[in-house]
Amino acid sequence: MRQEPDLEPTNVEMDEPFENSLRPSKLSDFIGQHAIKESLSIFLKAAIQREEPLDHLLLYGPPGLGKTTLAQIVAYEMASQIHVTSGPAIARPGDLVGILTNLESNAVLFIDEIHRLSRQVEEILYPAMEDRKVDIMIGQGPAARSIRLDVPPITVVGATTRQGLLTGPLRDRFGIVSSFEYYDEEALCQIIQRSSEILGYKIDPGGAEELAKRSRGTPRIANRLLRRVRDYAQVWGEEMITSAAAAKALEALKVDHLGLDRLDRAILDAIITKYRGGPVGLETLAATVGEDAGTIEDVYEPFLIQRGLIARTPRGREAAPLAYEHLGHPQPNR
Ligand SMILES: Nc1ncnc2c1ncn2[C@@H]1O[C@H](COP(=O)(O)OP(=O)(O)OP(=O)(O)O)[C@@H](O)[C@H]1O
Ligand SMILES: [Mg+2]
Repeated sequence: MRQEPDLEPTNVEMDEPFENSLRPSKLSDFIGQHAIKESLSIFLKAAIQREEPLDHLLLYGPPGLGKTTLAQIVAYEMASQIHVTSGPAIARPGDLVGILTNLESNAVLFIDEIHRLSRQVEEILYPAMEDRKVDIMIGQGPAARSIRLDVPPITVVGATTRQGLLTGPLRDRFGIVSSFEYYDEEALCQIIQRSSEILGYKIDPGGAEELAKRSRGTPRIANRLLRRVRDYAQVWGEEMITSAAAAKALEALKVDHLGLDRLDRAILDAIITKYRGGPVGLETLAATVGEDAGTIEDVYEPFLIQRGLIARTPRGREAAPLAYEHLGHPQPNR
């Protein structure tokens, strides 16, 4: 069904080699997210002065806003090793025990999609985070006994797209919780300028602005649009990405002036034309547009809500007046 696979916000895998090259490694190079940066720089300084690991850190926000990047930055700033894993990757409690007891002192353990850890694995994580201990069972039946193992002092950095899915006890064990916000145009312009320098293709301020406006407040999308627009500019023989070149390329890529892609528009169109503006339930909506409900909730909806295109009500999703205007539908009589 997907016609523009390389532009879908969820299609992460193929970005990886590029993402790593475009990732800032120091906190001072991390653009935007001022609230997070300011507090984190204090906590990092204090931890470094005390020669202790940073307190456990939970990063929360929609995909592509820089959670993985920030986890790597924490390790860099603490001059510590980082071990990267994810909720679904840790299948059994024993797997986590193995990871924890093999980490070196002060290491960062980055657990992506931490909301997907199983309950049994979570049970191992609690005492490890709190008391630097893990309990493991040895033997079976009446002879079974539990022994405690030490865990080195470490920082657990958890990332999740949905804070609501985390269990209370797990959330409570993080001393620092950072919520990411969508980036404003200015920050995105800076990210685009920085990336174009790394890619070695010039972009003028107008071109960067044109891209920033349509990047859904998301650095990953900004970088992806930049690479695609560069392809067009290069083939058209333009030495620099100007605003005119950017606009033309974005039109060819079917990214509209709010940065909405095909599925964003399909969602809005479905609510307006098939459900008379809503409210419509998430599952019904997902079935109508042929996308997974979780993906709509995590990836598409937060941005559409933030831009005031849809509203989330107790009875379901409703199209806002701006959505009618944007798609060129007459406003309903409310
Ligand atoms: N503040 C930033 N400054 C510069 N570039 C950034 C920033 N945040 C993110 N990026 C860029 O965006 C890309 C995606 O960021 P990252 O992989 O950290 O997102 P994420 O929040 O972990 O996403 P996901 O939830 O999908 O794992 C990075 O490769 C990086 O190039
Ligand atoms: Mg990530």
